[in-house]
Amino acid sequence: MNSRRPFVIGIAGGTGSGKSTVADAVVAAALPARVAVLPMDNYYKDQSDLPFDARTHVNYDHPDAFDLELYLAHIAQIRRGRAIEMPMYSFEEYTRLLETVRVEPAPVVVLEGILVLFNERLRELMDLRIFVDADPDVRFIRRLQRDILERGRTVESVVEQYMEQVRPMHLSFVEPSKRYADVIIPHGGKNSPALDMLTARIHSLLAAGGVA
Ligand code: ADP
Ligand code: C5P
Ligand code: MG
Repeated sequence: MNSRRPFVIGIAGGTGSGKSTVADAVVAAALPARVAVLPMDNYYKDQSDLPFDARTHVNYDHPDAFDLELYLAHIAQIRRGRAIEMPMYSFEEYTRLLETVRVEPAPVVVLEGILVLFNERLRELMDLRIFVDADPDVRFIRRLQRDILERGRTVESVVEQYMEQVRPMHLSFVEPSKRYADVIIPHGGKNSPALDMLTARIHSLLAAGGVA
């Protein structure tokens, strides 16, 4: 491992905008061993102390829903060149799993999540700040399909959560954080010209050996 510190990319955007798709493109542009992806979703606080019904009513779109201190500690460790045991999260149970996943340090580090640009301490760590943009109706449709297929939700629960928490928190925290972006990627995560520019940047960084 060379002594240069990794290049840190932040990828923010609303739910269903395509953040994880952009993060996957960054990994594909390099090699998995050369990118450490730390999704902020893995750092949701565990809600196993609450009865199931109460867990479903926690506001998961507010900054307080995340274990920020653990996230910052793990990012610091990765930046110092040390592996971490990243938590895993169950969206079906609203709990942190007992298993963890080992993430090795790498020359490119990706921080991905709805609020990664909202938080100043996270922003300060980033060399490149990206906001993935998509129309709210498109994001909602993607969210509805994903939450029913992958997260064990019903149409009614997705609609209620969207109206009561996701939408107001998006307007208060996520959308205003767009002002901190260096680059805004429109039309979600399959915008090939934008992804080509991003991956070209990563190739040149890796060819140059990262950043000093
Ligand atoms: P996020 O992580 O921001 O919630 P994802 O990357 O998981 O969003 O994208 C949500 C869904 O939308 C996924 O099924 C993904 O394949 C799809 N998707 C993302 N961007 C686009 C796009 N530009 N066109 C079509 N589908 C897209
Ligand atoms: O991948 P995406 O950006 O959509 O993930 C963030 C979303 O996950 C938030 O909008 C939040 O409402 C949702 N979430 C949830 N249930 C949890 C934790 C997060 O619906 N237990
Ligand atoms: Mg995602």
